[in-house]
Amino acid sequence: MSGLPVVGQKLDLKQYFAGVKPDLLDVEERIKRQAREFDPAILGYIEYALESKGKRIRPALVLLMARATGGIDTTPRAGHANLAVIVEMIHLATLVHDDIMDGATKRRGQPTAVAKWGAELSVLLGDCLFAHALKLCTHFEEVEINRAIADASREVCSGEILQTQRRFDLKLTIPEYLKIISMKTGALFRVSTELSAFINMEKGITEEQRQAARVYGDCLGLAYQIYDDCLDIAGTENSIGKTTGTDLEKGKLTLPLLHVLQQDLGAEKDAIAAMILHGNESDRQKLLQVVLERGGLKYSVRKIQTYLEEAVRALDLLPPGEFREALQGIPSALISHVGNLAK
Ligand code: IPE
Ligand code: IPE
Ligand code: MG
Ligand code: MG
Repeated sequence: MSGLPVVGQKLDLKQYFAGVKPDLLDVEERIKRQAREFDPAILGYIEYALESKGKRIRPALVLLMARATGGIDTTPRAGHANLAVIVEMIHLATLVHDDIMDGATKRRGQPTAVAKWGAELSVLLGDCLFAHALKLCTHFEEVEINRAIADASREVCSGEILQTQRRFDLKLTIPEYLKIISMKTGALFRVSTELSAFINMEKGITEEQRQAARVYGDCLGLAYQIYDDCLDIAGTENSIGKTTGTDLEKGKLTLPLLHVLQQDLGAEKDAIAAMILHGNESDRQKLLQVVLERGGLKYSVRKIQTYLEEAVRALDLLPPGEFREALQGIPSALISHVGNLAK
């Protein structure tokens, strides 16, 4: 699916990450170093995955939240840096698996693992990344941290299963969709921000502030997935560096389309259902027009904005300062960016 060039510009969050640039570089080094822990015979696959140019949003959130809640842990366990590596590796593992299920050929501007080496090898590559992330968790003595990371990993995978079960299911409701994205995407965002604040509880961060950090990650994650789902419909492969159109092709019904499906479609109902269930490329282009005409993108943008406003509000409970401002800047940037989507 070629998509419409509705989204021309890339979302650029670099300016908000600037305050933690040296910390992010340290995390980048740590991520690369993990490849050495694997058997030399499989090193190439691991390096290919680890060195791909992701936006590193989750590690940046860990580090910004750390700085906003008392600073980065500099004890030998390097809690925040370790957490940042762990969440990125779990994220990467899920992407490797997700690309197999989506049959995606491009990710982070390069061929996907499945396109290069096939599904069999890529399943195991994703497993290796997952398992290694869990090994890194052993640097934490607190059971609570390990439990939260294990829970988040389980939630992400369970969310992907729920989504797979409901493919091509025209009865999927918006609350059910929101539950799926909360699991598959929200879980890793909220564990990143919550645990980052949790590590700083010995520096005086309160339980209430820890919860606020969680709400921030949760709302940002939900908004981000809805945004990504809009891009899958209205973006182009070149502008976002990954295959687009796979959601519809694989029967994943996302918010812009669900908004259309809950309308009274009258005589168009059967034709729209047929395009979703057995549509070809040209039907999917027609569906995109239907989504645009019936306000599916506009509705999704409003929903994104609502979650982002909640994310910003949650930060009110955190100590003021430049890092809280940077955390506030991310949802604000996303709000103005998605504004273009609905025009
Ligand atoms: C992609 O996440 C998957 C979603 C949850 C939407 P990112 O957009 O953070 O992907 P990378 O890490 O930059 O490749
Ligand atoms: C996000 O869903 C994948 C996970 C959270 C595992 P998508 O299928 O929308 O992600 P992209 O668009 O392929 O990056
Ligand atoms: Mg996908
Ligand atoms: Mg997507």
